Amino acid sequence: MNEIKFIECATAEEVAEQAAQPFLDAIKANPESVFGMATGSTPLGTYAVFVREAKAKRVSFSRCATFNLDEYVGLKPKDAAHSYRVFMNNNLFGPAGFNLDRTHFPFKWDEPIKPGTDFAAYDAHIAAAGGIDVQYLGVGENGHIGFNEPGSDISSRTRLVKLAEQTIKNNSRFFDSEEDVPKEAVSMGLGSILKARKIVLVANTKNKLKAIEALRNAQAFNPEWPCTALVAHPDVTVYWLAK
Ligand code: F6R
Repeated sequence: MNEIKFIECATAEEVAEQAAQPFLDAIKANPESVFGMATGSTPLGTYAVFVREAKAKRVSFSRCATFNLDEYVGLKPKDAAHSYRVFMNNNLFGPAGFNLDRTHFPFKWDEPIKPGTDFAAYDAHIAAAGGIDVQYLGVGENGHIGFNEPGSDISSRTRLVKLAEQTIKNNSRFFDSEEDVPKEAVSMGLGSILKARKIVLVANTKNKLKAIEALRNAQAFNPEWPCTALVAHPDVTVYWLAK
């Protein structure tokens, strides 16, 4: 057994509430907490809890800083709504009252990438902000965290990555066709993620069970299941739904 805490929940609502708690505790202790954020279907329930708590004025996110894990490269203008910046603004930052000036992405999806861009500057930016206090992670069916696909290096930093076929297929549900799904992204690396002081990983659909099984059984990092990088971290909690 590794040291990761696995909390099995009975419902998606329970996953959402429980996974929100470490963030709510952090912000109550320090209103300037730094959070690592994810996009996709997984965090929507947790983000709804943040919005509810902010609207009820039990918590304020206005002074915290956020760093998102990843952003698509090569989105067509018609798919602007699928950029992770727009997703976060609509689902969390706007309704929960974050200060947009303190919300960060590794790449501005609507600006061309300048030749020679060193995306690892994002890691330096995170470090300069004091490092991530609590990192939220979803997990891909193939075990990716961020867009660190199978074969990623455990010490990888923020960089341009190619999406795996499986990821493109899974994410096509958000687009008109598979053709429209970007093939590349800029993602924090496994090494970047492991620098967070606390990590929350959430798996709330059946297609993640193999990845969770790989993580439960891992004694060491197995690059075929990138999520197993987390066994090297001292403070990881997994909130998951077994059915
Ligand atoms: C998204 C991200 C990805 C997703 C993963 C699961 O920012 O980094 O690792 O967490 O692809 O996606 P969903 O939640 O849509 O199943």
